[in-house]
Amino acid sequence: MPENHFGEAVAASYDDDSADMFQPSVIEPTVEFLAELAGDGAALELGIGTGRIALPLARRGIEVHGIDLSEAMVARLRAKPGGEQINVAVGDFATTTVPGRFALAYLVFNTIENLTSQDEQVACFQNVAAHLEPGGCFVIEVEVPQLQRLPPGETARAFALTPTHLGFDEFDVANQGLVSHHYSVVDGELRLHSVPFRYVWPAELDLMARLAGMTLRERWAGWRREPFTDESAKHVSVWEKPERD
Ligand SMILES: C[S@@+](CC[C@H](N)C(=O)[O-])C[C@H]1O[C@@H](n2cnc3c(N)ncnc32)[C@H](O)[C@@H]1O
Repeated sequence: MPENHFGEAVAASYDDDSADMFQPSVIEPTVEFLAELAGDGAALELGIGTGRIALPLARRGIEVHGIDLSEAMVARLRAKPGGEQINVAVGDFATTTVPGRFALAYLVFNTIENLTSQDEQVACFQNVAAHLEPGGCFVIEVEVPQLQRLPPGETARAFALTPTHLGFDEFDVANQGLVSHHYSVVDGELRLHSVPFRYVWPAELDLMARLAGMTLRERWAGWRREPFTDESAKHVSVWEKPERD
């Protein structure tokens, strides 16, 4: 089982720390995009967390299920209105199976990169394909690897510089690895929290989809279907399972 980097301390402040991602201007287009793909079918969120997307999607009338490694994150989801109605399996989304067949599976907010090896990321696509009904879709929202911002010979890049939060990404280019270091001042004390990721390229994700029997249907720079270009910092990609198994 992968290491859980979303324990009690992280879960307790997750919604506040990610407040930008809870803004209606972020949630509404995301939910709109996902609800359209789910149609009358059920949806499965990998890394459902505290329900940032799952709860508003369920309020749209979609049957939402989830998988998450962190009991602490899932406890926050359950404590929210509507949280008890969402079936969540606690486990690794690369390997955990849940009952049912889904019109939609989705993995947002860079969470595919929480799987720190290529084998685990490939396994995730295979696990998703096994849960999708024919014609079902898998959606990933993830950054484009930020290597163009890393000068030759450098291994670290700051992503947060505020009086109470310093954040640095440390790259291991040879191994496609990345560790995000957060130095935060909490109640007057300095805390360090470091999380490992495996950054992954769009074309590599397409190959993972193909290995799992799915093909790319759409790729956008955001949830409002902005065109994906050389300048895009992230992408929202949709792969489809064929109509016939
Ligand atoms: C960045 S949070 C995103 C939560 C939620 N999807 C959102 O958009 O707010 C990542 C979530 O994925 C979960 N997670 C990370 N790696 C996982 C894994 N291998 N299997 C299951 N859950 C995982 C974490 O516990 C955490 O809840």
